[in-house]
Amino acid sequence: MTDAAAQLDPARLIADIDRRLFGGFVEHLGRHIYDGIFEPGHPSADAEGFRTDVVDLVKELGVTTIRYPGGNFVSGYRWEDGIGPADRRPRRLDLAWHATETNQVGLHEFQDWLDKVGSDLMLAVNLGTRRTEEALDLLEYANTSVPTARTAERAANGRPQPFGVKMWCLGNEMDGPWQLGHRSADDYGRLASRTAKGMRQLDPSIELVVCGSSGRSMPTFGAWEREVLEHTFDDVDFISCHAYYQEREGDAQEFLASGVDMRLFIESVVATADHVAAVKASDKRIMISFDEWNVWYMSRWEEQAVAYGPDDWPVAPRQLEDRYHALDAVVFGDLLITLLQHADRVRSASLAQLVNVIAPIMTEPGGPAWRQTTFHPFSITSRLAQGRAVRVPVDAGTFESTRFGAVSSVNAVATVDDDGASLFVVNRSTTDAASLRVDLAPLAATLGRDLAVVESHLLHEDDPYAANTLDDPERVGVRPLEGARVEASVLTADLAPVSWTAIRLG
Ligand code: AHR
Repeated sequence: MTDAAAQLDPARLIADIDRRLFGGFVEHLGRHIYDGIFEPGHPSADAEGFRTDVVDLVKELGVTTIRYPGGNFVSGYRWEDGIGPADRRPRRLDLAWHATETNQVGLHEFQDWLDKVGSDLMLAVNLGTRRTEEALDLLEYANTSVPTARTAERAANGRPQPFGVKMWCLGNEMDGPWQLGHRSADDYGRLASRTAKGMRQLDPSIELVVCGSSGRSMPTFGAWEREVLEHTFDDVDFISCHAYYQEREGDAQEFLASGVDMRLFIESVVATADHVAAVKASDKRIMISFDEWNVWYMSRWEEQAVAYGPDDWPVAPRQLEDRYHALDAVVFGDLLITLLQHADRVRSASLAQLVNVIAPIMTEPGGPAWRQTTFHPFSITSRLAQGRAVRVPVDAGTFESTRFGAVSSVNAVATVDDDGASLFVVNRSTTDAASLRVDLAPLAATLGRDLAVVESHLLHEDDPYAANTLDDPERVGVRPLEGARVEASVLTADLAPVSWTAIRLG
């Protein structure tokens, strides 16, 4: 057992939390839409064909804004294919994922589904195979109330009122050589700037996200952000970050340092954006939309990639269906802590993705839906992290990471609201439990009352590779953290190795 000492002082304010930090991402990919959220023949399906068991789980997850329709998919997508009578919609080849897109779900159906789950739409436009004009057509169709040919078409398709989409992504991962229409930073920056200017002429109230890097290890990382922002700084509000993590070569300890990589990623992008601001003598601050983040065993996907025959373009194949274990959920919880630690600049984030595809929710066609291990840290954090994010530096032991040197074994953040506070803490050590002591005196003084533990949630398994499956869907969950208590304004708790914990103080 090692010691971990901290103080929860509301004066260490990071920022008010933007609820968009708890966003999600739905892509037309694998069984995400078809046989995931939309399965007309399913016993739980409603009149529109949406699985109500999935709707209930998405609500419980607590996702706010949901990015749609991709991802790599959007870079070849024609949004017009997904509107109008469903039986007249074209089937198309989806080059990004080598599948057939039936277009039975498009903008209208997806908005209907969002209305059921209570989340907001964040739309991505195709800047891969398409240009400014098609983006403007979509924006006019979605957001305008003036009578035009586009808005008449929308009304005829069942929505007289605009969708009123606030956040728009200017393409997806345009830095990635795998992306349809991949281009240089200069080329993309010019196109994104032109498109953004046109979109703002049409609707000045929208918020725009320009593509940053697909990962911190991209060869163009840093230079890409600088060059793209040199073109678009005045036109956009956000720059995107995407990051996926996985355990490599059985090195769980190194995997548990993933939060450090995410921190460095965020800090580098902030520094780059602020450098461009300095060169432009501007006090504008570009925010980060971390609009793809998760654990993803991408190497498994690459190794198992199916060699399709020339005529083999399946509909809704099983793709990217990672099964998450307890260790993944602990790393995932640490990534959420890291996002909250940067709530001043990360004002929006999207867990990639939601259902079946690298997802917290799994389904079987005609069968049940269940929660993966990662569901728990997300739903608990989204519910408990209210009000303001507050820094909680922890004085703890370290472990040696091959990539990052000495890394703190314990990482934490808190949120403070009018009714109390929530503490989120991860023990990244694979070997040592930690005895946590948090001085709550400054918090008690600020709130003007003594505090007690009102709820606690521990995610830890003796077998870190335990997972939830179709046959055993509740194998891994959370349970109260035994022994967590406050005495004389000091919170004490023992944290098992490889564990994630949330404690509500009220
Ligand atoms: O989330 C899966 C894929 O990861 C997305 O389509 C793409 O944007 C990223 O590379």
